[in-house]
This record gives sequence, structure tokens and C-alpha cells, in this order.
Amino acid sequence: MAQAFATAAKEHNDVEVIAISEYTINPCKGCNSCVKQENHKCFQHDDMEVIYSKLSTADILVIASPVYFYGISAQLKALVDRLHNPIRNNFTIKKLGLILVGSDVLTELFDAILVQYELIKKYFSLDDIGKVLVRCAKDKGDVYNTNGVKEAIELGKKLQ
Ligand SMILES: Cc1cc2nc3c(=O)[nH]c(=O)nc-3n(C[C@H](O)[C@H](O)[C@H](O)COP(=O)(O)O)c2cc1C
Repeated sequence: MAQAFATAAKEHNDVEVIAISEYTINPCKGCNSCVKQENHKCFQHDDMEVIYSKLSTADILVIASPVYFYGISAQLKALVDRLHNPIRNNFTIKKLGLILVGSDVLTELFDAILVQYELIKKYFSLDDIGKVLVRCAKDKGDVYNTNGVKEAIELGKKLQ
């Protein structure tokens, strides 16, 4: 779905897909050294440095995650927590989108993530470009039995 969204959005935008599993992003240790230091460098010196620079030039951020125990993946949560760094004040992002997939049929499946999404959107004063929320997709390929890919393409095409 992320790839389908990106391909559709590429028609009118410069798009980069960042697979965070390919980056080493350690959890925030809560030491606040990034807050105290003038250059706001995190002492961990991991791949988050690359992510910060990407987020400092992007206009739109679309987050894609599987549902893990009614939340986002731990890998993505680690990245979100690292936005504690005051470098976030240099971000150029104006709009946010969301793509989620889970295996359950539960009505409330995305509720916890949607609350966090709304709060983060408000915190950074961002506009919502839309969401693709897909249930009943457990195994590889299951998503093709849903409207997910179609909706992801529509979301991408909307970005003109
Ligand atoms: C650790 C873990 C926790 C999960 N928790 C949930 C859950 O709470 N609700 C749900 O509907 N699916 C849950 N799933 C299923 C995944 O969301 C689902 O298989 C999804 O399609 C995985 O997407 P991916 O193949 O893109 O990683 C969980 C899967 C794993 C591995």
C-alpha cells in the first residue's frame, strides 16, 4: 500500500519511500542531552540523523504501519519518540497522512493509533491528507483482497 501510494503520488510530487526497517533507530533514552546541546545532536549517532535531515526538507509525511497490539510498530514508535529532539522545530512538513493494516475485523482496531495520530497532528499543526485503514489482512498478499491498494492509489493521486 505504501508503494502504491508513492507510485501514484509521484505523478505530481517528488516522493521518497523510507523503509524504517532498513535504518538503525534506537529508542529515545530520555536523557534530554539533545535539548541541552546547542546543535541538538543525539548522543546515539544512529540513522536517526538521516531521518532528521529528510524530515527537514519534506512537505508531506505519510506514515505506514502494521497494527501491532492496537498500536503502531515498535520500530515506528522509536522514530516518533525521537521527535522529542528540538530539531523537530526545523521540520518543513505541513501535511500528514496515514496508512494502516491489521488482521482483525474489530471496529475499534485503529482507535488507539488514531488518537495518537490526531494528537501528533495537532502538536505539529499539520493538516490531514487522508487515511487508508485496512482490516482483515494477515498474511502477505491478503491486502489485495481489500480496497487498500485502490484507496492508497486514490490518496496518492489526490496530492497535486
Ligand atoms: C507483533 C504483532 C502484533 C500484531 N498485533 C495485531 C493487532 O493488535 N491487531 C491486528 O489486527 N493485527 C495484529 N497483527 C497482525 C498484523 O497487523 C498483520 O499481519 C499485518 O498485515 C502485517 O502487515 P505487514 O505484512 O505489512 O507487516 C500483529 C502482528 C504482529 C507480528
